[in-house]
Amino acid sequence: MKDLQNNAITVLNNNWKDKFSIPCAKLYPFQWFWDSGLIAIGFAHFDMPKAEKEIETLLDAQWSNGFIPHIIFHTESDSYFPGPDFHRSDLHPQSSEKYKSTGMTQPPVTGFVLQDLYRISKNKKATLSFIESTIDKVYKNHEYFYNQRDPQNEGLVYIYHNWESGTDNSPIWDDIWDTMNPPEYTFERRDTTHVDATQRPSKREYDHYLHIIEIAKQNNYNDQKIAQLSPFLIQDPLFNAVLLKSNQSLIDLYGIIGNNEDKIEQLQKWQKKGTESINSKLYDSELGVYVHYDLRNEKLLRHISSSSFTPLFANLPSKERAKKMVDIMMAKFGDSDQYLCASFDPTSDRFNPKKYWRGPVWVNLNWMLYYGLKQNGFDDVAKRIKEDTIEIIKNNGFYEYFDPRKEAHKDGKAGYGGHNFSWSAALFLDLINQ
Ligand code: DGY
Repeated sequence: MKDLQNNAITVLNNNWKDKFSIPCAKLYPFQWFWDSGLIAIGFAHFDMPKAEKEIETLLDAQWSNGFIPHIIFHTESDSYFPGPDFHRSDLHPQSSEKYKSTGMTQPPVTGFVLQDLYRISKNKKATLSFIESTIDKVYKNHEYFYNQRDPQNEGLVYIYHNWESGTDNSPIWDDIWDTMNPPEYTFERRDTTHVDATQRPSKREYDHYLHIIEIAKQNNYNDQKIAQLSPFLIQDPLFNAVLLKSNQSLIDLYGIIGNNEDKIEQLQKWQKKGTESINSKLYDSELGVYVHYDLRNEKLLRHISSSSFTPLFANLPSKERAKKMVDIMMAKFGDSDQYLCASFDPTSDRFNPKKYWRGPVWVNLNWMLYYGLKQNGFDDVAKRIKEDTIEIIKNNGFYEYFDPRKEAHKDGKAGYGGHNFSWSAALFLDLINQ
């Protein structure tokens, strides 16, 4: 285990680029929002200054309206498509003047990451003073979400692109692609020159991805216009659970810092409304789990994915519901011949054990589920998900995603996508130091 731990540290140090980390070489050569947050948790275990710098750089790219972009293009790398010239963040009047970026965001992990740095820190006083210097920016990011991404004032925010969900090519989005007919764009993919095409999204899926961005660009990334016009407009249980988890962290941290009653009060209001809405609107009582809501077509997308269980991470379900959710997780995803937790329902005909978010196990989701299960008293399943995560990494290395089928792990080739992947290393370090 010591060797593996040292390897994880080496992966993180190699992916460190002076003031931020890349998720992995070639495939993802810039800074990504939720990667960055989760990577900081890994650094916190052995190099707190890097953990802090990672977050500082991320927040330095914040727009003046509080928005934080999903990719910050620090360099001119041409190993990635679509790059800064496609995304054109400068179209938005409040975008960063310092950094080129995308005009979309990602699950807002920063709030809970600050609390994790505090949890891990051996010098709480110093870490708290770092948190004091950054927390208002994170608050401002939450303010952006509730003011700009919640048109019906429900306490639930929308995402307008599948890349905002983090679960880029989930089979859930197939339902949305069925409602669209984008042009056939001509472009040169870069991802499939680094990674086997069978493990990545299809060309036709990319047409949809690009088309949504074209619509947003035609409207200068204006949030109100996007809410009116985007064919993709989703309330995502993972995204909203992460936002609520981060709200709670900000409440706790402002409480420790003191003298921030007004912010705590506002966060509590968001928290109350968001918790009620996610529990009434995104919970599917027939399926017994949380699902996505399609705001454009006003309907639930009734599919079970690893995102369905993430409200556990933010302590949102009642005791009774939590029990039912875990029963379903074990019945559908937890067979003894499978590793927990596949990213999509293994009993569905849309499941694919090798293709990115259509089935493989992801370390970031397992990490959230581990804490969610533990907090809710499911110690046995928490232990299983932790041991599964460690075993798949031991078998294959620090890959981006892994085959959930145990039979595929016999020859150490069941890790897919990017190799020496930062958050797999970072969250492995956090799990084994529990
Ligand atoms: C990609 O390029 O696949 C990224 O996940 C987008 O965020």
